[in-house]
Amino acid sequence: MQVQLHINGKATQLDLPPNTLLVQALREKLQLTGTHVGCDTSQCGACTVLMNGRAVKSCTLLLVQAEGAQVTTIEGLAKPDGTMHPMQAAFKECHGLQCGYCTPGMVLSAVDLVTHYPKATEAEIRELLDGNLCRCTGYQNIVKAVQHGAVAMAA
Ligand code: FES
Ligand code: FES
Repeated sequence: MQVQLHINGKATQLDLPPNTLLVQALREKLQLTGTHVGCDTSQCGACTVLMNGRAVKSCTLLLVQAEGAQVTTIEGLAKPDGTMHPMQAAFKECHGLQCGYCTPGMVLSAVDLVTHYPKATEAEIRELLDGNLCRCTGYQNIVKAVQHGAVAMAA
């Protein structure tokens, strides 16, 4: 089945079986392995990407559901010259990661969160990120990173 979409700003055409998940197309066909798989059951958020600017769990979407969409993976978030997105830089500065497995999904969810709720309180950040699980950090530095990232994104 042919599907056309934009991935990290690049027009992409894929010809894959109709039951292909978006995460499979990204990781196995396009080698965009920054999109992780943690649970395969729509719980952990490690597979989060942006689709038309909103965070979605790519293990839960069929590739065909992304027909015509703009998809951004963690590989597409930095500028072409390698300058990190403000939210990536905030995670680095605030030590918002340890093993890093949850981080691509966490960063992309945070970008969606701050884009749509730029003045979110700490409690709202915790609630809005509840679809992304982290087994390492205890979340405190992740929340701090999102708050710093929000300031940087507004600047
Ligand atoms: S792998 Fe998609 S939510 Fe866990
Ligand atoms: S940093 Fe290890 S799972 Fe979040």
